[in-house]
Amino acid sequence: MNLSIIGAGHVGLVAGACFAEIGHDVVCIDNDPKKIAELEAGRTPFFEPYLPEMLAANVERGRLRFSLDLADAVEHSEVIFLCVGTPPLPDGEADLSAVERVTRQIAMLSDGYRLIVEKSTVPVLTGERIYNTMRIYRASHGRGEFDVASNPEFLAEGTAVRDFLFPDRIVLGVETDRASQLLQGLYQPIMERSFDWRPNCGAPDEDQRPEMVVTNRNTSEMIKHASNSFLSLKISYANMVARLCDAVGANIDHVTRGMGLDQRIGPQFLRAGIGFGGFCFPKDLQAFVSMAERNGVQFDILREVEKLNLSQLDYFVHKLKRELWVLKGKKIAAWGLAFKANTDDVRFSPAIYVIEKLLAEGVEITAFDPQAIDEARHTGLDIEYAASAEEAAAGADALVLLTEWPDFRNADFARIQQSMVRPLILDGRNLLDPNKLRSMGFEYISMGRP
Ligand code: UGA
Repeated sequence: MNLSIIGAGHVGLVAGACFAEIGHDVVCIDNDPKKIAELEAGRTPFFEPYLPEMLAANVERGRLRFSLDLADAVEHSEVIFLCVGTPPLPDGEADLSAVERVTRQIAMLSDGYRLIVEKSTVPVLTGERIYNTMRIYRASHGRGEFDVASNPEFLAEGTAVRDFLFPDRIVLGVETDRASQLLQGLYQPIMERSFDWRPNCGAPDEDQRPEMVVTNRNTSEMIKHASNSFLSLKISYANMVARLCDAVGANIDHVTRGMGLDQRIGPQFLRAGIGFGGFCFPKDLQAFVSMAERNGVQFDILREVEKLNLSQLDYFVHKLKRELWVLKGKKIAAWGLAFKANTDDVRFSPAIYVIEKLLAEGVEITAFDPQAIDEARHTGLDIEYAASAEEAAAGADALVLLTEWPDFRNADFARIQQSMVRPLILDGRNLLDPNKLRSMGFEYISMGRP
């Protein structure tokens, strides 16, 4: 099929590369000439495992191209995915101006049937708005029928390519059979696993096929928001239990393992730490709560999650203070800047928030992150950057681990133990092995592990 993807951001590029990989002809559109020039030159604007190779291979095969020309894309594609940004507004609502603008343009540019698919994360009822906008502008400027569908993405940064090609589920929110059939056809290779891409990426077993949920548009939008909010809730629950573990001397790792083995609970998203961040959970949570309140539903349990997630940062700083007594003037090594491992994304990163809190206390910080230093520099934080984890730790009064990069486990701890002024580690992600570090002479503290 011929597809256009509007918005060459994280979701758009992953979707574009993967749809091309499974056999479709794709054009990725963006209105940023710099971004399109970068992509045409073979450069991916952010770090995402497997994506650069997949983009390059499909450009080479002639199945994928990048363009600034929305009119051309709309003319040649029956299915158009909206993957434009929906950043948060100051009041917590999602800014849908890009979605609205692109919808208007599509309505005026196309004649003949088009299926518009919203993939950007949007509040419930946005599909209806898109439909009405299409109807109004089509009537005055264009011709032909159209459908508007919702097909939310469930991609996590760092595993986005795998998540796209080997999903647990594909959700289609459709209002007509035509839209349903088009989308089911589009995803058939993923449902049947009839594509060749099989690197060692932790793909599920061949017999673990995805489920497809075909429902109406509003329900589909709700599934996306309810899923992200539930995962945020699950993490916050684990964080609160970890605080209680600290208080009574229990071990959160064992508690969450014991809980997670119950299939009704499941083991994932119970990792305690310094809280969740990134461009999805915090903003989706806010938008979901605002939408609920606008519709007369007080979603207090989620308001509480927002509060707990913020207070988890204070809890962490408090733990450090308890050890160091006075923070002012201390030298702290920060391991990690990205909001989680395997990404260079620092937007709404708990690591950055902790650093800001420590800076406000008068601490000097030297940070290291395997991927996110360039992105962090743009935040203008008044900190030093080191070339390695070991270099960051040298001369520090304490080391705080803020992002769960597996590489940190392999640091040269013998050297670090010698080079720190005080070999104290506060592990905000429960990544390191307490016994190993204590036997090497470190003071080691983590989140809910005695
Ligand atoms: C999240 C969802 O996982 C995706 O399914 C969804 O498609 C995406 O948002 C989106 O809406 O676009 P992402 O933000 O990339 O993906 O990252 P996650 O892996 O979900 O992690 C979010 C935050 O929670 C990170 O800060 C992470 O460190 C934290 N986290 C995660 C924990 O603190 N504990 C956990 O057990 C899991």
